[in-house]
Amino acid sequence: MNLLSLIQSKKAGVPLSTAQMDWLISSSVAGTVPDYQLATLLTVICYEGLEAAETLAMTRAFVDSGDTLSWEGISRPVVDKHSTGGVGDKVTLALAPLLAAAGLAMPKMSGRGLGHTGGTIDKLESIPGFRTDLSMQEFRSILQDVGCAVAGQTAHLVPADKIFYALRDATDNIRELGLVTASVMSKKLAAGAPCIVLDVKCGSGAFFRDEAEARAFASQAMAIGRAFGRQVACVLTDMDQPLGQAVGNRIEVLEVLDLISGSGKLADLREVLLALGSVELLLCGMCPDMESGRVQLQELLDSGVVKQKFREWIRAQGGRLSELPASPEVLPNMRSVAVQAGSPGWVSGIDCLQLGNVARRCGAGRMSREEVIEPDAGLMCYVAIGERIEQGEELARLLIHESRAAEADELLAMTQAAFQVSTDGSVPRRKTVLDILLP
Ligand code: URA
Repeated sequence: MNLLSLIQSKKAGVPLSTAQMDWLISSSVAGTVPDYQLATLLTVICYEGLEAAETLAMTRAFVDSGDTLSWEGISRPVVDKHSTGGVGDKVTLALAPLLAAAGLAMPKMSGRGLGHTGGTIDKLESIPGFRTDLSMQEFRSILQDVGCAVAGQTAHLVPADKIFYALRDATDNIRELGLVTASVMSKKLAAGAPCIVLDVKCGSGAFFRDEAEARAFASQAMAIGRAFGRQVACVLTDMDQPLGQAVGNRIEVLEVLDLISGSGKLADLREVLLALGSVELLLCGMCPDMESGRVQLQELLDSGVVKQKFREWIRAQGGRLSELPASPEVLPNMRSVAVQAGSPGWVSGIDCLQLGNVARRCGAGRMSREEVIEPDAGLMCYVAIGERIEQGEELARLLIHESRAAEADELLAMTQAAFQVSTDGSVPRRKTVLDILLP
């Protein structure tokens, strides 16, 4: 077999066979095919698409390209969760201790920020002392004792995806649905949990811009889950505005602390958290239906048990919560800039991608792979679509790291432009959870 013949046949509209897919992926990991031919094949795939059988074959070959994890010996039901990425998405930080408090085990391999979207590992590392480079032995022992553990992806889990992802990124071949499905699902399958819930986000701040794309991904991912004998459910959630108010790293941790301490102002975040959590409980047979699961989780939140579990988990991974500032208003080394409404009206739209990019440029994300994140940087978005606002009201607040203070005026203008205000009467509020698809 050779890669040129695969390119030629895919160009002619002939699907790749399972044998061709296996050869392609093992040769890529062995480094015996040139990058330029692999990048060309990925480009052709982006135009021709992958059929369901090709996506399944690619996922299987991806999983087989590295280690797979097993949670045998963990005494609680094991669950996993994945988000397709968004702005202000801090759900894992609350879901892991919530499910641990409910008696489940959530071993989670997470990533760093990508583009305008934040990453769980960056958020957790903003807690002084928090370690995400755990050995497998440490990881298992924290998982067994606490009920949750979060670490960075190991180099040995799905190495083929690392090669493919980097090439797709460098050649703008990111968005083909089969490639996305194989990439996401191979990592979840290799991570070994029998029950997996995917938070599939759609909207201006998400990977999938509209609901149809999000549904197509969900349906493929669930089909792959069935083929591997796993329980996979999808929760479709809105990402046309940030989730919660904080967009950054340390400020998102502070917001999670607020949420699990019973703050009433974070209804959207709570909604997503309870939807994902009750689906996890249902999948592993811990509740008869989603409503009773939701009630169970709500009680755990209200009782303060989840906050205790959160503290236990952070301590187990070396984090020192006592060294965090009390609120975003008192973060050191930050230029704090208020963004005010120019006119009264109703918030009719928020360019969530733009807000993600502003937070990134404030210092919350990386503009290049080498750049270091400023843990305190980011932005607070105080209004949601459908809210009535008055002239001069604070819509958002930028927390710009001192080293980027020269960009303050531009970032302020970008943020102002991200808010659309209607004066023609009220605008409906948006639903946060759009649909729940069970296996
Ligand atoms: N996230 C992934 O892990 N892979 C993709 O292809 C897209 C988003």
